[in-house]
Amino acid sequence: MDLKKEEYIDKIKSLAREKNAVIFAHYYTRPEIQEIADFIGDSLALAQQATRVQASILVMCGVHFMGETMKILCPDKKVLIPDMKAGCSLADSCKAEDLALFKAQHPDHMVVSYVNTTAEVKALTDVVVTSSNAKKIVDQLPKDAKIIFGPDHNLGSYINSVTGRDMLLWNGACHVHSRFSLEALLQLKKENPGVEVLAHPECKAPILAQSDVIGSTKALLEHTIKSSAKRFIIATESGILFEMQRACPDKEFIPVPPEVTEGIGCSCNECEYMRMNTLEKLYKCLLNESPEMVVPKEVADKAVLSIQRMLEMS
Ligand code: 13P
Ligand code: SF4
Repeated sequence: MDLKKEEYIDKIKSLAREKNAVIFAHYYTRPEIQEIADFIGDSLALAQQATRVQASILVMCGVHFMGETMKILCPDKKVLIPDMKAGCSLADSCKAEDLALFKAQHPDHMVVSYVNTTAEVKALTDVVVTSSNAKKIVDQLPKDAKIIFGPDHNLGSYINSVTGRDMLLWNGACHVHSRFSLEALLQLKKENPGVEVLAHPECKAPILAQSDVIGSTKALLEHTIKSSAKRFIIATESGILFEMQRACPDKEFIPVPPEVTEGIGCSCNECEYMRMNTLEKLYKCLLNESPEMVVPKEVADKAVLSIQRMLEMS
């Protein structure tokens, strides 16, 4: 079926009403998905909100690990995700079997994992963090604790620098955030003197060193809303620009471009996994109540502990 945008929106809204479904979307999804969602947020806000809503069906427009986290936190609800292939290069960079081996080599270390991980990795983790709460949670851990932090090396280095810790870092990265061009950022700063640079902590250290505000997608959005400045340079996935522009129609947001890299499919600062969420797939997934997220009970029972710990410490 090939419908117009407005037709999809009408059909999605009436199906959601009829089936008592709530639609969640991450800030990096397409504008039309953010427009139709009941809740938009960063990964922490989406997980927290999922536990609060009264609904039979939760639809997670984001990536696979976000749907898994939602299912683990709400095992009695039906959790749908418009495209099961919407993965995450960062989550892919840490396989559970490799982490299990690494843990065995460092038996005196606790494991702190970024939420961008599979349920199996969370099951091997002591406490999960997001970019919103990583500093706050690491600060609460015993001062003498030995810590493995994974999988994002850039976020881990940043958290080491702001907490004074010396966590052992996994060598993973997000293919979108690790490819922003330092040269282009320096050029943008030269062309726009005095304009603040806002960056997500998944960016590489040289980009963060040139940034004025470092934070999760939500923290960056909130900064643009409360700041009296009218222009900002943004180093994170470009989907957030939609929400920034919607919240601040009189302000200007200048995205930092990525390095031009041979062999990488997308030469823009978009996460192709997040963009797999389309109105058509969202409509079909509500209509068919499929694909449905399933997490094996033995994995979910362990993973829920590290996610709950995060929610308690946030
Ligand atoms: P947030 O925790 O800021 O939502 O980031 C999630 C993510 O996937 C960043 O690439
Ligand atoms: Fe994963 Fe990067 Fe996409 Fe975020 S932007 S979902 S970390 S691949």
